[in-house]
Amino acid sequence: MTKIGILEGSLRKASLSRAVARSASALAPSGMDVTILPSTESLPHFNQDILDEGIPASVTELAAAISAVDALLIVTPEYNWSIPGALKNAIDWLSRLDPLPLSAKPVAIWTVSPGLLGGARVHESLRQTLHSQDMRIMAKPEIQIGGAKGKVDVEAGIVTHEDMATFLGKHLVAFDAFCKSWTGRS
Ligand code: FNR
Repeated sequence: MTKIGILEGSLRKASLSRAVARSASALAPSGMDVTILPSTESLPHFNQDILDEGIPASVTELAAAISAVDALLIVTPEYNWSIPGALKNAIDWLSRLDPLPLSAKPVAIWTVSPGLLGGARVHESLRQTLHSQDMRIMAKPEIQIGGAKGKVDVEAGIVTHEDMATFLGKHLVAFDAFCKSWTGRS
């Protein structure tokens, strides 16, 4: 069993990327367990002063949830060609813990946008940050869901575009193999 935890990049209720994230469990192959990690919403803005007084409970909770899974799937929009602040803030908090919760974890990235490029430009900035945590990044195949307003049902939390849903399912099969290549599990 490969346990995947999804880290969501959007906080908003009617989020397109959240709908895609919620669809992943149903699209996953047998032998893959997909859960949504705790929201990054309750994490304070990173400030060394807060850390000096003790690690916030919300950070500890997120780190524990990450430690309990084999790999991460980040499902996120692109903000101004880069990483949404709440997601970057979460990575910054996690990077201050010992041991590093993200270190050596396999990770894949799905980006979602109403625009045509599907958030293509956030992949590289996100990879750069994830490399700093020594994560095992699956660079290909890539997932960039453009024109997402016509491809998801936000209320139901599903991908309605059949070809896209099939492609996401295939991506999860590839990610499962990638995870096993790092974790040594069959
Ligand atoms: C955006 N949006 C956006 N879209 C994109 O494709 N490239 C970009 O660089 C940006 N930049 C950006 C900055 C900020 C601050 C906001 C709020 C939005 C649009 C974005 O893709 C759109 O609002 C999505 O619907 C946000 O994702 P969720 O919340 O629907 O998952």
